[in-house]
Amino acid sequence: MASPTDIEAAARALREGQLVAFPTETVYGLGADATNGEAVARVYAAKGRPSFNPLIAHVPDAEAAFALGAFSPEAKALASAFWPGPVSLVVPRAADCPVSLLASAGLDSIAIRVPSHPVALELLKATGRPVVAPSANPSGKISPTTAEHVRRHLKDKVAVVLDGGHCKVGVESTVVSFLADGPRLLRHGGVPKAEIEKVLGHAIAAQSHSARPHAPGQLLSHYAPHAELRLNAQAPREGEAYLGFGPLHAYGPWTLSATGDLVEAAASLFRLLHEIDATGVARIAVAPIPHQGLGEAINDRLMRAAAPRTA
Ligand code: TXA
Ligand code: MG
Repeated sequence: MASPTDIEAAARALREGQLVAFPTETVYGLGADATNGEAVARVYAAKGRPSFNPLIAHVPDAEAAFALGAFSPEAKALASAFWPGPVSLVVPRAADCPVSLLASAGLDSIAIRVPSHPVALELLKATGRPVVAPSANPSGKISPTTAEHVRRHLKDKVAVVLDGGHCKVGVESTVVSFLADGPRLLRHGGVPKAEIEKVLGHAIAAQSHSARPHAPGQLLSHYAPHAELRLNAQAPREGEAYLGFGPLHAYGPWTLSATGDLVEAAASLFRLLHEIDATGVARIAVAPIPHQGLGEAINDRLMRAAAPRTA
């Protein structure tokens, strides 16, 4: 079982941008400092998933959660009924939300939860920053409920594995969104839908799997920049802004990574797309990105953003 010294060391590793696996009451999480884009990028790299899906920010109490997003009265009601515990709430990002845009996968919403496992709570307090944590399994493997499961697959990728015994709940948190279209159940999990509805006093719609936000169609409406994207462009054409990869040449101020580092590129992707879009340019030409490691996820997002718009 993790000692206070282990937890202190893990908090330090997180603040330094390293990855830490830690127990929650649901499953073990693969944690990174949510405010550090490169640390968040390393989470995707460690999971080996060829796409960016949005991650849950973990905080030690509701007050810390309320600083990250805009909670409606109903969202606050679920927070006070179920936190700390296995419910994640998706709300609009606060204007000054310090969580990396990569963690939100470019969406303007954020998923937040306060876990109840004492080791998780101590770690979050000691870290003093929100911590993103998908389940600590490589993509396609089942979620880990013991420290041994985590070590088996991810040992080489994390600075510390904190041991907190068996996860009591054993399935992931229930995800409920509170966005413009009202409350929706996005994922079944540790708290049954009926209990959520009891607190709200009414039934909520369950979003079908195909309409979940990481499905391409749904994502486009949130994610696509206003500007059109032209991919695999060696150089900009007349009237285009250029988003490079590698050293800056004559094509303007934007590169995903001057050194050609895919971790840095992933961390800057959404920020730079927003930044270029804000200039009002009609088209962004994007340099070719090597299709390996995190490059697969970067290309996946770029392709979705470049896909023809369905109005
Ligand atoms: O129990 C859990 O929630 C575990 C432990 C470690 O806390 N974490 C977990 O994270 O299951 P992950 O990354 O495996 O699942 C995150 C879920 C996904 O279904 C994702 O689509 C959804 O949360 N999600 C995150 N941010 C979202 C957003 N802004 N909008 C909609 N869904 C979001
Ligand atoms: Mg998972």
